[in-house]
Amino acid sequence: MKAGAPPLMRLDDLRKSYRLRRGLTDRLRGINRGVTAVDGVSLSIQRGGILGLVGESGCGKSTLAQLIVGLLEPTGGKILWDGANLKTLAGSARLEYRRGVQMVFQDTHSSLNPRKRIRTILTEALAARGLHKPDRAPRVATLLRQVGLDAQLLDRFPHELSGGQRQRVGIARALAMEPALLVADEPVSSLDVSLQGQIINLLRQLNEDLGLTIVLISHDLAVVARVCDSIAVMYAGRVVESGIPDQVLTTPRHPYTQALLDAVPRGLERRGRKRGVLPVEAGATQGGCHFRARCALAQSVCTEQDPALRPSGPNHDVACLMAL
Ligand SMILES: Nc1ncnc2c1ncn2[C@@H]1O[C@H](COP(=O)(O)OP(=O)(O)O)[C@@H](O)[C@H]1O
Ligand SMILES: [Mg+2]
Repeated sequence: MKAGAPPLMRLDDLRKSYRLRRGLTDRLRGINRGVTAVDGVSLSIQRGGILGLVGESGCGKSTLAQLIVGLLEPTGGKILWDGANLKTLAGSARLEYRRGVQMVFQDTHSSLNPRKRIRTILTEALAARGLHKPDRAPRVATLLRQVGLDAQLLDRFPHELSGGQRQRVGIARALAMEPALLVADEPVSSLDVSLQGQIINLLRQLNEDLGLTIVLISHDLAVVARVCDSIAVMYAGRVVESGIPDQVLTTPRHPYTQALLDAVPRGLERRGRKRGVLPVEAGATQGGCHFRARCALAQSVCTEQDPALRPSGPNHDVACLMAL
């Protein structure tokens, strides 16, 4: 990497709100209801690294993933791709970005066309990439090798494959575009635990062999802990803690990260006493820290001030007034 080169991608105070359908009373009263799924996320995605994005269901991970790959438009903030604002990208630069950022989905049933054979799925991706016809078959063979699939599977349909095999096809299809960045949104959540490790190892191997930058999204801290170079913990649309695994996993500073770690059964060291985290509260917390209603450490200042993500040590940021 060139010294001073911008990160592959930089998210700057990124926001996304969804408008909800209004009922009659809302319409008569002129009320617009919305949900802020991503609420001011700033993150750097470093070239050649694996960034783990963790947080419970509904915290905004998939929304963030779709913003990164351009499937959703942000309602605020900006995304810099190799230093350039996505909004200003046009023409071939925009196409390069769309090709260069690929996604792997959790649900392999709906992400692969059930009526197409694996060969067709991969060949079509290569055609979309602009690969000449004679080059496609050898490239399909290479892709299969890269994801550890047998060529015998090429004439099968997605439903004839196991969940793990389907996920490998999904990864191969993404690789067909020769992306610089792969966003894997809960790629192992639908798989048996025994298969999860294999897919995670495959992602690590692709990261090492191809220099592929990866954003690995999971609700399970244990899944990302093993392979990531950096970790961002999300809660209610925000990053509450981020840094290198050595910092975030061994000296977690945010009570929410501490709770996530306490929930990891084995393999990761638990630190300190059991931290108090109250059960999921109903409804959004207005003003102040989003986490305060569940936080045993919360003080009145947490109602008044909204904690920003601040350095709490080298390679370690935390958004908690009590942790600083
Ligand atoms: N298309 C949508 N329309 C309205 N609300 C949505 C939509 N997609 C997600 N949400 C809401 O946004 C929040 C974040 O969802 P999501 O990004 O899917 O989180 P995660 O992937 O972490 O489970 C949730 O409250 C969810 O209900
Ligand atoms: Mg999701």
